[in-house]
Amino acid sequence: MVTKAQRFMAAVIRIFIRGANSKLSVSGLGAGVQSSLGAALLKLSPSCNARTKTQRRHASHFTFHPDPVRTQYGPTQKMNLFQSVTSALDNTLASDPTAVIFGEDVAFGGVFRCTVGLRDKYGKDRVFNTPLCEQGIVGFGIGVAVAGATAIAEIQFADYIFPAFDQIVNEAAKYRYRSGNLFDCGNLTIRAPWGCVGHGSLYHSQSPEAFFAHCPGLKIVIPRGPVQAKGLLLSCIADNNPCIFFEPKILYRAAVEQVPVEAYTTPLSQAEVLQEGSDVTLVAWGTQVHVMREVANMAQEKLGLSCELIDLQTILPWDIETVCKVRETHTRCTKTAA
Ligand SMILES: *[C@@H]1O[C@H](CO)[C@@H](O)[C@H](O)[C@H]1NC(C)=O
Repeated sequence: MVTKAQRFMAAVIRIFIRGANSKLSVSGLGAGVQSSLGAALLKLSPSCNARTKTQRRHASHFTFHPDPVRTQYGPTQKMNLFQSVTSALDNTLASDPTAVIFGEDVAFGGVFRCTVGLRDKYGKDRVFNTPLCEQGIVGFGIGVAVAGATAIAEIQFADYIFPAFDQIVNEAAKYRYRSGNLFDCGNLTIRAPWGCVGHGSLYHSQSPEAFFAHCPGLKIVIPRGPVQAKGLLLSCIADNNPCIFFEPKILYRAAVEQVPVEAYTTPLSQAEVLQEGSDVTLVAWGTQVHVMREVANMAQEKLGLSCELIDLQTILPWDIETVCKVRETHTRCTKTAA
């Protein structure tokens, strides 16, 4: 049982941490952070400072394997995942004059630096901060999208998306259905840093996609690296349905790839077969794709098992066809999952 006192303490700690966040926005992240709480928060991004052994012990183990370089979209640049997100947002603001980006601290670049430079480049009317109120951020985003603009909302951590659950599930997802196709907020995209880094505790570690994965009217997308992040985010922004784009925050800095500079899209609801195999099919998304690769290698080495590896990429609506087609090659496949 959670006592009233515990709940109060949790609320105080949350406000305290978020207070530290707002202070950061005043002093600027690059300018040296005085607050130790702010510094603690910064440590959430894996490349910041050395982490202690205790902290590392709780992090999932994986090695990021970059994808082969793709040249079909023109020149590429070395980018980590947060830079590929910035690049996608930059492309969108440049090509779509109605596009706006808003959320907590996005104007100064956001706690994970995904919107760095965009306010200066496109102006404070297009990249702006909101109050610390997720319900308000999503509610506002729905209105902006219904009014005809491209709305890109940031929830500072996926763990804080729950105050907006009603706006997302009851309003955004059902707007078209409720109005008999007269209105929709399909041009709303919600971005949120997602998943554990190993020392973020309960308000900075969660993977809440399952709570949204059973809600018709939404699309839920999670990339495994920078190249996928940019292509999938641009697909979410272009898609005619409200999308939630969860960004694996441990990969923000740890994952580096050659990413096309120009805009390109990676289709939604299309899983990618990363490795063919004949004994067992493994399906994962986001950070766990890299853990899954290591598991597959271990299974091959230690048990002689050949694993088929699938990156699901879109959680809703997921690519049943690819997963089932692959599974049909195995002797005991059934389509019950569909
Ligand atoms: C969404 O954006 C597209 C492309 O910019 C536009 O054609 C469409 O009218 C927008 N939808 C709404 C409901 O405004």
